[in-house]
Amino acid sequence: MRARITGTGTYLPQQVLTNEDIEQRIDTSDAWIFSRTGIRARHVAAKDETTSDLAEHAARKALEAAGRSADDVDLIVVATCTPEIIFPACGALLQCKLGVTRGAAFDVNAVCSGFLYALAVADKFVASGQAKCAVVVGTEVFSRLLDWSDRRTCVLFGDGAGAVVLEPHAEHGILSTHLHADGRQADILRADGYVNDGQLHDHAFLHMDGRAVFRFAVTALESVCQEALATNNLHGSDIDWLVPHQANIRIITATAQKLGLPPERVVTTVEHHGNTSAASVPLALDSAVRDGRIQAGQHVLLEAVGGGMTWGAALLRW
Ligand code: ACO
Repeated sequence: MRARITGTGTYLPQQVLTNEDIEQRIDTSDAWIFSRTGIRARHVAAKDETTSDLAEHAARKALEAAGRSADDVDLIVVATCTPEIIFPACGALLQCKLGVTRGAAFDVNAVCSGFLYALAVADKFVASGQAKCAVVVGTEVFSRLLDWSDRRTCVLFGDGAGAVVLEPHAEHGILSTHLHADGRQADILRADGYVNDGQLHDHAFLHMDGRAVFRFAVTALESVCQEALATNNLHGSDIDWLVPHQANIRIITATAQKLGLPPERVVTTVEHHGNTSAASVPLALDSAVRDGRIQAGQHVLLEAVGGGMTWGAALLRW
């Protein structure tokens, strides 16, 4: 059996912060941000909104699209690096909010690659028959990790959640997943804060060497996409839709060009919500599913790269 995505759903918090809004606060400009990243706006969670709240909205929409209810769900895997508390896991909090009462519920932290990691884990459960209806969510409240006076990082990220439902199917679904990590690259993208003796220690804000991340991302994404194509005896020209991690339009364009894919076959949403880390791939996927671009039988390639460094891809027959 294969694990097939039978429903998708998303949630973006109500408050929108445009580049013009940020211009009012720090020394930056819409022109700089848009030309370097392709981002015009990001969403920011309300003070009382939590990571699992965002996940709940997205998961409910995905379940509705799949025609499933909480009673059907037997596995929840949540990708996040911004959980609201240390534990219980966001997956367990989400399970309670959805009213699901059976199966496993847990978190995966691979930062911006988190959704690919979570999807790969859930795929193994569904394809092996251990789960019949899995909910996989990428959810982040990244705005709380940002130093809003640091123009090098704060303009890049936003909050949001995206979810999919996975169910077994004999033919359609995930053809292969490919995950990688290189912990030697931990320093180029990190958030160092930790809790000890009841106190938060070190620097809890996100730190990034933007140029090093850019270089790493372009190389890693091309390599993992080629790996996914080779595994399935396919070429770039066989891909109907590339659904990339929505970090930066220049990274997305470079990857598409290396695969020989024209812009019309690349799903991009980064302009409207910035980099939402683990939520970005399911946010983009949902937009192309709901507006009818992605059709049954098509080949869809998902990819992402993030802190760790981690990176991954999944090739699907929709
Ligand atoms: N507004 C105005 N100026 C800025 C801003 C800003 N928001 N940020 C940086 N600058 C300035 C810098 O201070 C610097 O000025 P200086 O030369 O006077 O010192 C100048 O712009 C160039 O800075 P760089 O950091 O070299 O700019 P670069 O062209 O590399 O673009 C960027 C920075 C957009 C972060 C780029 O490196 C990038 O996209 N990197 C990838 C990072 C990424 O996508 N991270 C997401 C997380 S990881 C992931 O999801 C894959």
